[in-house]
Amino acid sequence: MCINIQNVYAVAPAPSPLGSLNGRHLLQVSDLSPLELDALLRLTRFLKERAGHEQSGLLRGRTVALLFEKPSLRTRVSFEVALTQLGAKALFAQGAEFAIGSRETPEDAARVLSRYVDAVVIRTHDHSGLERFAGAAGVPVINALSAESHPCQALADVFTLRERFGEVAGLHIAYLGDGRNNVAASLAQAAVMLGATIHFGSPPTHRPSEGFLAQLGRLGKSAGGRARAFSNPVRAVRGADAVYTDVWTSMGEERYRERNDAMLRPYGVTEELMSYAAPHAAFMHCLPAHRGEEVSAAVIDGPNSVVFDQAENRMHSQKALLVALLTESKGFPI
Ligand code: CP
Ligand code: NVA
Repeated sequence: MCINIQNVYAVAPAPSPLGSLNGRHLLQVSDLSPLELDALLRLTRFLKERAGHEQSGLLRGRTVALLFEKPSLRTRVSFEVALTQLGAKALFAQGAEFAIGSRETPEDAARVLSRYVDAVVIRTHDHSGLERFAGAAGVPVINALSAESHPCQALADVFTLRERFGEVAGLHIAYLGDGRNNVAASLAQAAVMLGATIHFGSPPTHRPSEGFLAQLGRLGKSAGGRARAFSNPVRAVRGADAVYTDVWTSMGEERYRERNDAMLRPYGVTEELMSYAAPHAAFMHCLPAHRGEEVSAAVIDGPNSVVFDQAENRMHSQKALLVALLTESKGFPI
């Protein structure tokens, strides 16, 4: 029998931080308040626990454009499946069909698309073009990865940590490798907002800027979250509950590949480096991964790896995000 979640919970108490997300954009994690982030994670759990139920009433009749300038497996497919299961239609365009600012201004493209669709999900190189697009859009805009941030990945990452440890507050997360990249930035914002400590292990050339570390300090203040950067990978990892890494060279940065390979090699996550983390430490990676580079096969394919949980959770957390941005989220017991 099909259960329509909206009907089942139509009489549940309504007021919730989710309501304030209706109609908003998500360009980076810090667009959310800590309370909104927490509520999104709780809605993610609610929807994941009911993944086998009929959920197609939640966004029935809506249309969402997915516009990707860069390749994607997880983000594209998880958004398309999420939208299908929520009863909405996904429209995908990539490459020459869509590149922010190439055929027309971001503002014109945003105004046109806002007349057709209920939300726009964008993967782009240029974060400032994304901000211009969002500034002119009349519908929610979701960042599906820019050079600066990857908030959808971070939502799934902190949700995965909650599943594994019950709480994110108080955890010690070590991020090894390119500490200036999009995944590192969004993970760090989400972690400190929820009260975790994040240690970057990166050479001076790849550590987050002082300005970004100061922003993390401000973002973490109310929950007790902290961020520090170390040049010594062992110092970053020592005692960590979770060790995270990402590719050494992000999309669009290919010209630096040789230099990155040389500089980041000491920060590769091997069994030896993991031995300095807590014995229960989870290994995390947003994927795609390169075995033998940023992570050894023994670690990513080992028993403490949660990389496929992270990948699965992309779909559940994006469902929660879509519902929160596109509806008043009434009726959820959140
Ligand atoms: N992690 C992630 O965003 O993967 P894709 O690039 O395949 O979407
Ligand atoms: N930092 C990587 C993440 C890929 C999901 C990139 O931008 O290519």
